[in-house]
Amino acid sequence: MIVILNFGSQYLHLIARRVRELGVYAEILPHNVSSKQLKKLKPDGIIFSGSPASVYGKGSPQVKKEIFKMSIPILGICYGHQLIADFFNIKIEPGKVGRFGRYFIKVTKQGKIFQGIKGKQQTWFSNYDIVSKLPKGFIRTATSPSCPIAAMENTNKKMYSVQFHPEVVHTKRGKDILANFVFGVCKAKKTWKVKSLSRDLIEQIKIQVGDNKILLGSSGGVDSTVVAALIHKAVGDNLYCVFVDHGLMRKNETVEIRKIYKKLNIKNFKVVNARNLFLNRLKGVTEPEKKRKIIGHTFIKVFETEGKKISKKEHIKYFAQGTIYPDRIESAASSNKADKIKSHHNLTLPEKLHFKIIEPLQDLYKDEVRELGLDLGLDKDVIYRHPFPGPGLAVRILGNITSQKIKILQAVDEIYMKELKKSGDYSNITQAFAALLPAKSVGVMGDARTYKYIVSLRAVTTEDFMTADWYKFKYETLIKISSKIVNEVKEVNRVLYDITQKPPATVEYE
Ligand code: XMP
Repeated sequence: MIVILNFGSQYLHLIARRVRELGVYAEILPHNVSSKQLKKLKPDGIIFSGSPASVYGKGSPQVKKEIFKMSIPILGICYGHQLIADFFNIKIEPGKVGRFGRYFIKVTKQGKIFQGIKGKQQTWFSNYDIVSKLPKGFIRTATSPSCPIAAMENTNKKMYSVQFHPEVVHTKRGKDILANFVFGVCKAKKTWKVKSLSRDLIEQIKIQVGDNKILLGSSGGVDSTVVAALIHKAVGDNLYCVFVDHGLMRKNETVEIRKIYKKLNIKNFKVVNARNLFLNRLKGVTEPEKKRKIIGHTFIKVFETEGKKISKKEHIKYFAQGTIYPDRIESAASSNKADKIKSHHNLTLPEKLHFKIIEPLQDLYKDEVRELGLDLGLDKDVIYRHPFPGPGLAVRILGNITSQKIKILQAVDEIYMKELKKSGDYSNITQAFAALLPAKSVGVMGDARTYKYIVSLRAVTTEDFMTADWYKFKYETLIKISSKIVNEVKEVNRVLYDITQKPPATVEYE
């Protein structure tokens, strides 16, 4: 196992994913983990992540000094590179210029980290500060014009560091650099394989829950469906699934989810129709955060009532959650400096239900969950579905929500999704959806004036949803989608395509 210490890098999860892609399990731990805790894990190597902080800044995240003396190989990345230098009392100072983006380095010595990598190399930098001098006993392995010590190492001390980011795809040989550390230096073994994981996970669930019964909140999304498939394989009919239909789903979603669960042979699957309750509570509400809160609270209420009903008949001991690895790390790290942009709605255990929690996907990244799902026999359509937010269409109908608006948006969304699948764009897009704007505009149809709704189409690509890029359609595809929408949805006479990145926009509209 490789341990990654989190100093707050925006690329934190990328580091872990790259290591796992190499076939070695990677675990993220807080930067201030003790050497005692680390020792217990017996990692083959430690990676220090980057950070937005300056090593010399007040309150900057530090690492316990004993960790440098454990004789476990360390790879410092960006801030991690500076931390290593700082440990040897080398001054870290602001560079003359910042380096953000693609920069070339020159490999000056192959050392251990640049085995098989020579000369000029494209890399990705994101820093102001630089290491001013080489610590004693280190050799410089790479340089760049504005960052003289771009990489360094000390084989005796098993310390290696790079100022750039090998985990980012723009560092052309980044994966090889990480592999040189993981295999060449740490001698880690390739033992992490998602494919062989389903059997182990099923066994673990069986041991953990025995003959007890488990409740699961199904959302139709990838994570909860994979959890359902997995647990069902472990405990069969002791799994009870509840799907709360808040009426803000895509068209026919309830029918689709029924089909999926039927195919999985899950007998105890209940759909709770709470459409009217949600619609009533949302009547006249326009403020986005208020909408989100109402939906979150109502959802928990409905789920709680249902959970209690089932518990009266069956003795339920466990509540399963589709928590995945980034959720777990983020909630552990949310001490929380970050500004609250939106209150996300996810199904966590309602307070009044006293169950034990089981989270079988808690160590997996999304792409690993998908691989697991395929291994469990789930259809590709289900596994590669775009994400759909908990509050559903409520955050895509700007302003107040009515049943008429829901129907309009569902009709538009259905056309949009069908066309994306037909054109082949669906699988290249991370997330696409339509939003209904809270305004009407004038148009002309068959020589007559119209005054109808405007819809905005969004399609983004992203690795981690922290940033997102808008998708570049072929014009012909947009023309087709737009004319189909205005021809088939009579309440809409104008279609816009959203070309805003995140940031400054978010993916969803509210
Ligand atoms: P934003 O709009 O924050 O969206 O850029 C990033 C990703 O999160 C999804 N999203 C949610 N997912 N519950 C969820 O489970 C929520 O309340 C929620 N709000 C946004 C959004 O669809 C996108 O994939």
